[in-house]
Amino acid sequence: MTAVATDNAVREIVRGLRQDEKMISPKFFYDERGSQLFDEITALPEYYPTETELAIMQDNIDEIAALIGPQASLIEYGSGSSLKTRVLLQHLIDQAVYVPVDISEDHLLASAAEIREEFPGLEVLPVVADFTKHFNLPNPAVMPRRNIVYFPGSTIGNFPKDEACELLRVMYDEAGEDGAMLIGVDLQKDPAVIEAAYNDAAGVTAEFNLNMLRHLNREFGSDFDLDSWQHDAQYNENKGRVEIRLMNDSRQTVNIGDATVVVEEGEGILTEYSHKYTLEGFAEMAAGAGFKTARVWTDPDELFSVHYCTR
Ligand code: AVJ
Repeated sequence: MTAVATDNAVREIVRGLRQDEKMISPKFFYDERGSQLFDEITALPEYYPTETELAIMQDNIDEIAALIGPQASLIEYGSGSSLKTRVLLQHLIDQAVYVPVDISEDHLLASAAEIREEFPGLEVLPVVADFTKHFNLPNPAVMPRRNIVYFPGSTIGNFPKDEACELLRVMYDEAGEDGAMLIGVDLQKDPAVIEAAYNDAAGVTAEFNLNMLRHLNREFGSDFDLDSWQHDAQYNENKGRVEIRLMNDSRQTVNIGDATVVVEEGEGILTEYSHKYTLEGFAEMAAGAGFKTARVWTDPDELFSVHYCTR
Protein backbone atom coordinates (compact mmCIF):
# COMPACT_ATOMS: atom_id res chain seq x y z
CA MET A 1 0.00 0.00 0.00
CA THR A 2 1.14 3.56 -0.63
CA ALA A 3 1.65 5.81 2.41
CA VAL A 4 -1.46 7.79 1.48
CA ALA A 5 -3.56 4.63 1.15
CA THR A 6 -2.29 3.43 4.55
CA ASP A 7 -3.16 6.79 6.17
CA ASN A 8 -6.64 6.68 4.68
CA ALA A 9 -7.19 3.10 5.82
CA VAL A 10 -6.04 3.91 9.38
CA ARG A 11 -8.32 6.93 9.46
CA GLU A 12 -11.25 4.84 8.26
CA ILE A 13 -10.59 2.12 10.87
CA VAL A 14 -10.31 4.68 13.71
CA ARG A 15 -13.53 6.36 12.60
CA GLY A 16 -15.31 2.97 12.71
CA LEU A 17 -13.91 2.21 16.19
CA ARG A 18 -15.26 5.53 17.47
CA GLN A 19 -18.85 4.86 16.44
CA ASP A 20 -21.50 3.94 19.03
CA GLU A 21 -21.31 0.39 17.79
CA LYS A 22 -17.67 -0.21 16.90
CA MET A 23 -17.17 -1.54 13.39
CA ILE A 24 -14.41 -2.37 10.92
CA SER A 25 -15.19 -2.83 7.22
CA PRO A 26 -15.17 -6.42 5.89
CA LYS A 27 -12.72 -5.33 3.21
CA PHE A 28 -10.04 -5.64 5.92
CA PHE A 29 -10.58 -9.42 6.04
CA TYR A 30 -8.65 -9.90 2.86
CA ASP A 31 -4.92 -10.08 3.35
CA GLU A 32 -3.29 -13.16 1.80
CA ARG A 33 -4.27 -15.40 4.70
CA GLY A 34 -7.78 -13.91 4.69
CA SER A 35 -8.26 -14.72 1.00
CA GLN A 36 -7.01 -18.24 1.64
CA LEU A 37 -9.39 -18.68 4.60
CA PHE A 38 -12.27 -17.40 2.50
CA ASP A 39 -11.45 -19.99 -0.17
CA GLU A 40 -11.59 -22.62 2.59
CA ILE A 41 -14.98 -21.28 3.71
CA THR A 42 -16.40 -21.73 0.21
CA ALA A 43 -15.54 -25.44 0.40
CA LEU A 44 -17.11 -26.05 3.85
CA PRO A 45 -20.09 -28.43 3.98
CA GLU A 46 -22.17 -25.81 5.87
CA TYR A 47 -21.39 -22.95 3.49
CA TYR A 48 -24.06 -23.50 0.82
CA PRO A 49 -23.76 -20.26 -1.29
CA THR A 50 -20.73 -21.06 -3.45
CA GLU A 51 -21.67 -24.52 -4.67
CA THR A 52 -25.33 -23.56 -5.03
CA GLU A 53 -24.54 -20.52 -7.19
CA LEU A 54 -22.15 -22.58 -9.30
CA ALA A 55 -24.85 -25.22 -9.86
CA ILE A 56 -27.36 -22.51 -10.88
CA MET A 57 -24.86 -21.17 -13.41
CA GLN A 58 -24.07 -24.63 -14.80
CA ASP A 59 -27.73 -25.64 -15.05
CA ASN A 60 -28.73 -22.50 -16.94
CA ILE A 61 -25.60 -21.51 -18.80
CA ASP A 62 -27.02 -21.90 -22.32
CA GLU A 63 -29.91 -19.60 -21.53
CA ILE A 64 -27.59 -17.14 -19.78
CA ALA A 65 -25.21 -17.07 -22.75
CA ALA A 66 -28.11 -16.58 -25.16
CA LEU A 67 -29.49 -13.66 -23.13
CA ILE A 68 -26.08 -12.01 -23.04
CA GLY A 69 -25.59 -12.55 -26.76
CA PRO A 70 -22.43 -12.27 -28.90
CA GLN A 71 -19.49 -9.89 -28.56
CA ALA A 72 -20.25 -8.73 -25.06
CA SER A 73 -17.82 -7.17 -22.66
CA LEU A 74 -18.01 -9.03 -19.33
CA ILE A 75 -17.15 -6.67 -16.48
CA GLU A 76 -16.71 -8.57 -13.25
CA TYR A 77 -16.84 -6.89 -9.84
CA GLY A 78 -14.22 -8.86 -7.94
CA SER A 79 -11.00 -10.51 -9.07
CA GLY A 80 -12.60 -13.25 -11.14
CA SER A 81 -10.83 -16.20 -9.58
CA SER A 82 -13.99 -18.27 -9.23
CA LEU A 83 -15.27 -21.33 -11.05
CA LYS A 84 -18.52 -19.46 -11.86
CA THR A 85 -16.55 -16.97 -13.93
CA ARG A 86 -14.88 -19.79 -15.87
CA VAL A 87 -18.25 -21.37 -16.65
CA LEU A 88 -19.39 -18.04 -18.10
CA LEU A 89 -16.18 -17.47 -20.06
CA GLN A 90 -16.42 -20.97 -21.53
CA HIS A 91 -19.95 -20.39 -22.82
CA LEU A 92 -20.20 -16.77 -23.91
CA ILE A 93 -20.53 -16.42 -27.66
CA ASP A 94 -17.66 -14.73 -29.51
CA GLN A 95 -16.84 -12.72 -26.39
CA ALA A 96 -15.24 -9.31 -27.00
CA VAL A 97 -13.39 -8.72 -23.74
CA TYR A 98 -13.21 -9.66 -20.06
CA VAL A 99 -12.68 -6.88 -17.51
CA PRO A 100 -12.16 -8.01 -13.89
CA VAL A 101 -12.26 -5.09 -11.44
CA ASP A 102 -10.71 -5.37 -7.99
CA ILE A 103 -9.03 -3.18 -5.42
CA SER A 104 -6.39 -5.78 -4.52
CA GLU A 105 -3.84 -5.47 -7.33
CA ASP A 106 -1.77 -8.60 -6.57
CA HIS A 107 -4.79 -10.88 -6.42
CA LEU A 108 -6.32 -9.29 -9.54
CA LEU A 109 -3.21 -9.56 -11.72
CA ALA A 110 -2.50 -13.11 -10.61
CA SER A 111 -6.00 -14.30 -11.47
CA ALA A 112 -6.00 -12.31 -14.75
CA ALA A 113 -2.80 -14.12 -15.73
CA GLU A 114 -4.45 -17.48 -15.02
CA ILE A 115 -7.51 -16.58 -17.08
CA ARG A 116 -5.31 -15.48 -20.00
CA GLU A 117 -3.55 -18.81 -19.93
CA GLU A 118 -6.80 -20.76 -19.79
CA PHE A 119 -8.53 -18.69 -22.46
CA PRO A 120 -5.97 -17.82 -25.11
CA GLY A 121 -7.45 -15.40 -27.63
CA LEU A 122 -9.68 -13.74 -25.02
CA GLU A 123 -8.74 -10.13 -24.37
CA VAL A 124 -8.38 -9.69 -20.58
CA LEU A 125 -8.14 -6.11 -19.30
CA PRO A 126 -7.97 -6.01 -15.48
CA VAL A 127 -8.80 -2.72 -13.77
CA VAL A 128 -7.43 -1.89 -10.32
CA ALA A 129 -10.27 0.12 -8.78
CA ASP A 130 -12.73 0.35 -5.92
CA PHE A 131 -15.86 -0.80 -7.77
CA THR A 132 -18.18 0.96 -5.34
CA LYS A 133 -17.14 4.21 -7.03
CA HIS A 134 -17.30 5.15 -10.69
CA PHE A 135 -14.29 3.92 -12.71
CA ASN A 136 -13.29 4.23 -16.36
CA LEU A 137 -13.61 1.19 -18.59
CA PRO A 138 -10.54 0.22 -20.62
CA ASN A 139 -10.56 0.42 -24.43
CA PRO A 140 -10.75 -3.08 -25.91
CA ALA A 141 -9.32 -3.98 -29.33
CA VAL A 142 -12.78 -5.00 -30.57
CA MET A 143 -15.68 -2.69 -29.78
CA PRO A 144 -18.13 -4.75 -27.66
CA ARG A 145 -21.82 -4.77 -28.56
CA ARG A 146 -22.86 -4.36 -24.94
CA ASN A 147 -21.58 -4.42 -21.38
CA ILE A 148 -22.58 -7.10 -18.91
CA VAL A 149 -21.76 -6.19 -15.33
CA TYR A 150 -21.23 -9.44 -13.41
CA PHE A 151 -21.30 -9.46 -9.60
CA PRO A 152 -21.26 -13.06 -8.30
CA GLY A 153 -21.03 -14.47 -4.78
CA SER A 154 -23.74 -12.38 -3.11
CA THR A 155 -21.07 -9.87 -2.18
CA ILE A 156 -23.85 -7.28 -2.60
CA GLY A 157 -25.02 -8.68 0.78
CA ASN A 158 -22.01 -7.08 2.50
CA PHE A 159 -23.47 -3.63 1.95
CA PRO A 160 -26.08 -1.95 4.13
CA LYS A 161 -29.30 -1.40 2.13
CA ASP A 162 -28.63 2.25 1.27
CA GLU A 163 -25.09 1.50 0.09
CA ALA A 164 -26.32 -1.53 -1.87
CA CYS A 165 -28.83 0.72 -3.70
CA GLU A 166 -26.07 3.20 -4.44
CA LEU A 167 -23.78 0.45 -5.76
CA LEU A 168 -26.56 -0.86 -8.04
CA ARG A 169 -26.87 2.67 -9.42
CA VAL A 170 -23.12 2.73 -10.17
CA MET A 171 -23.52 -0.65 -11.88
CA TYR A 172 -26.43 0.70 -13.93
CA ASP A 173 -24.24 3.56 -15.18
CA GLU A 174 -21.30 1.26 -15.79
CA ALA A 175 -23.49 -1.12 -17.85
CA GLY A 176 -24.28 1.71 -20.25
CA GLU A 177 -26.77 1.73 -23.10
CA ASP A 178 -28.17 -1.77 -23.85
CA GLY A 179 -26.12 -3.11 -20.97
CA ALA A 180 -27.24 -5.60 -18.34
CA MET A 181 -26.34 -6.89 -14.89
CA LEU A 182 -25.89 -10.51 -13.84
CA ILE A 183 -25.77 -10.80 -10.06
CA GLY A 184 -25.71 -13.56 -7.43
CA VAL A 185 -28.01 -12.95 -4.46
CA ASP A 186 -28.34 -15.11 -1.36
CA LEU A 187 -31.90 -15.71 -0.17
CA GLN A 188 -33.76 -15.61 3.14
CA LYS A 189 -34.40 -19.11 4.48
CA ASP A 190 -34.52 -21.22 7.65
CA PRO A 191 -32.32 -19.27 10.10
CA ALA A 192 -30.69 -22.52 11.28
CA VAL A 193 -29.31 -23.15 7.78
CA ILE A 194 -27.94 -19.60 7.59
CA GLU A 195 -26.43 -19.62 11.08
CA ALA A 196 -24.69 -22.94 10.44
CA ALA A 197 -23.06 -21.48 7.32
CA TYR A 198 -21.43 -18.74 9.42
CA ASN A 199 -20.62 -20.91 12.47
CA ASP A 200 -18.97 -23.91 10.82
CA ALA A 201 -17.96 -26.87 12.94
CA ALA A 202 -14.32 -26.73 11.79
CA GLY A 203 -14.01 -23.12 13.00
CA VAL A 204 -12.75 -21.73 9.69
CA THR A 205 -15.17 -18.77 9.73
CA ALA A 206 -14.06 -17.94 13.30
CA GLU A 207 -10.44 -18.01 12.14
CA PHE A 208 -11.32 -15.82 9.13
CA ASN A 209 -12.98 -13.28 11.43
CA LEU A 210 -10.10 -13.25 13.96
CA ASN A 211 -7.55 -12.93 11.18
CA MET A 212 -8.83 -9.41 10.57
CA LEU A 213 -7.19 -8.20 13.79
CA ARG A 214 -3.98 -10.04 12.99
CA HIS A 215 -4.03 -8.32 9.60
CA LEU A 216 -4.55 -4.87 11.17
CA ASN A 217 -1.78 -5.43 13.71
CA ARG A 218 0.66 -6.37 10.99
CA GLU A 219 -0.35 -3.93 8.25
CA PHE A 220 -1.24 -0.86 10.33
CA GLY A 221 0.79 -1.41 13.51
CA SER A 222 -2.21 -1.68 15.83
CA ASP A 223 -1.91 -3.71 19.03
CA PHE A 224 -5.14 -5.66 19.44
CA ASP A 225 -4.65 -8.38 22.04
CA LEU A 226 -5.45 -11.34 19.81
CA ASP A 227 -6.19 -13.76 22.65
CA SER A 228 -9.25 -12.00 24.00
CA TRP A 229 -11.57 -12.07 20.97
CA GLN A 230 -14.31 -14.52 20.04
CA HIS A 231 -16.17 -15.05 16.78
CA ASP A 232 -19.88 -14.28 16.93
CA ALA A 233 -22.30 -14.69 14.00
CA GLN A 234 -26.06 -14.42 14.35
CA TYR A 235 -28.89 -14.16 11.88
CA ASN A 236 -31.06 -11.12 12.56
CA GLU A 237 -34.31 -12.33 11.03
CA ASN A 238 -35.99 -8.93 11.32
CA LYS A 239 -33.31 -7.25 9.29
CA GLY A 240 -32.68 -10.26 7.03
CA ARG A 241 -28.98 -10.28 7.65
CA VAL A 242 -26.20 -12.18 9.34
CA GLU A 243 -24.30 -9.91 11.72
CA ILE A 244 -20.74 -10.97 12.35
CA ARG A 245 -18.83 -9.58 15.28
CA LEU A 246 -15.66 -10.03 17.24
CA MET A 247 -16.53 -10.07 20.96
CA ASN A 248 -13.94 -8.98 23.49
CA ASP A 249 -13.75 -10.81 26.83
CA SER A 250 -11.35 -8.48 28.64
CA ARG A 251 -11.10 -4.68 28.67
CA GLN A 252 -8.25 -3.39 26.54
CA THR A 253 -6.74 -0.22 25.19
CA VAL A 254 -5.92 -0.43 21.52
CA ASN A 255 -3.45 1.87 19.81
CA ILE A 256 -3.73 2.45 16.10
CA GLY A 257 -2.05 5.26 14.18
CA ASP A 258 -1.93 8.04 16.76
CA ALA A 259 -5.33 7.13 18.17
CA THR A 260 -6.19 5.16 21.29
CA VAL A 261 -9.47 3.30 21.62
CA VAL A 262 -10.82 1.56 24.70
CA VAL A 263 -12.77 -1.66 24.20
CA GLU A 264 -14.77 -2.72 27.25
CA GLU A 265 -15.12 -6.27 28.46
CA GLY A 266 -18.05 -7.84 26.60
CA GLU A 267 -18.01 -5.19 23.90
CA GLY A 268 -18.06 -6.21 20.26
CA ILE A 269 -16.79 -4.96 16.94
CA LEU A 270 -19.07 -5.47 13.96
CA THR A 271 -16.93 -6.88 11.14
CA GLU A 272 -19.50 -7.90 8.53
CA TYR A 273 -23.11 -7.92 7.43
CA SER A 274 -24.31 -10.57 5.06
CA HIS A 275 -27.76 -9.53 3.86
CA LYS A 276 -30.19 -12.15 2.63
CA TYR A 277 -32.95 -11.08 0.26
CA THR A 278 -36.31 -12.29 -0.94
CA LEU A 279 -36.67 -12.53 -4.74
CA GLU A 280 -39.21 -9.67 -4.68
CA GLY A 281 -37.13 -7.61 -2.27
CA PHE A 282 -34.08 -7.74 -4.49
CA ALA A 283 -36.07 -7.02 -7.68
CA GLU A 284 -37.51 -3.96 -5.95
CA MET A 285 -34.08 -2.70 -4.99
CA ALA A 286 -32.79 -3.27 -8.55
CA ALA A 287 -35.81 -1.37 -9.88
CA GLY A 288 -34.89 1.51 -7.58
CA ALA A 289 -31.57 1.73 -9.42
CA GLY A 290 -33.36 1.69 -12.81
CA PHE A 291 -33.01 -2.01 -13.67
CA LYS A 292 -35.73 -4.28 -15.03
CA THR A 293 -35.48 -7.84 -13.73
CA ALA A 294 -35.68 -9.87 -16.95
CA ARG A 295 -34.95 -13.36 -15.55
CA VAL A 296 -34.21 -14.99 -12.21
CA TRP A 297 -32.80 -18.48 -11.69
CA THR A 298 -32.73 -20.38 -8.38
CA ASP A 299 -31.78 -23.86 -7.19
CA PRO A 300 -34.68 -26.26 -6.44
CA ASP A 301 -34.55 -25.43 -2.71
CA GLU A 302 -34.46 -21.67 -3.35
CA LEU A 303 -31.33 -21.22 -1.27
CA PHE A 304 -29.67 -18.84 -3.72
CA SER A 305 -30.57 -16.82 -6.81
CA VAL A 306 -28.99 -15.33 -9.92
CA HIS A 307 -30.69 -12.27 -11.43
CA TYR A 308 -30.39 -10.98 -14.98
CA CYS A 309 -31.43 -7.32 -15.06
CA THR A 310 -31.57 -5.07 -18.09
CA ARG A 311 -31.66 -1.29 -18.43
C1 AVJ B 1 -18.02 -12.83 0.37
C2 AVJ B 1 -19.57 -11.42 1.46
C3 AVJ B 1 -20.36 -13.18 0.08
O1 AVJ B 1 -21.33 -12.94 3.17
O2 AVJ B 1 -21.24 -15.06 2.81
C4 AVJ B 1 -18.50 -15.83 4.41
C5 AVJ B 1 -18.33 -13.52 3.25
N1 AVJ B 1 -18.13 -14.13 5.67
N2 AVJ B 1 -18.40 -16.25 5.67
C6 AVJ B 1 -20.73 -13.93 2.78
C7 AVJ B 1 -18.33 -14.48 4.40
C8 AVJ B 1 -18.16 -15.22 6.44
C9 AVJ B 1 -19.33 -13.80 2.18
N3 AVJ B 1 -19.31 -12.80 1.05
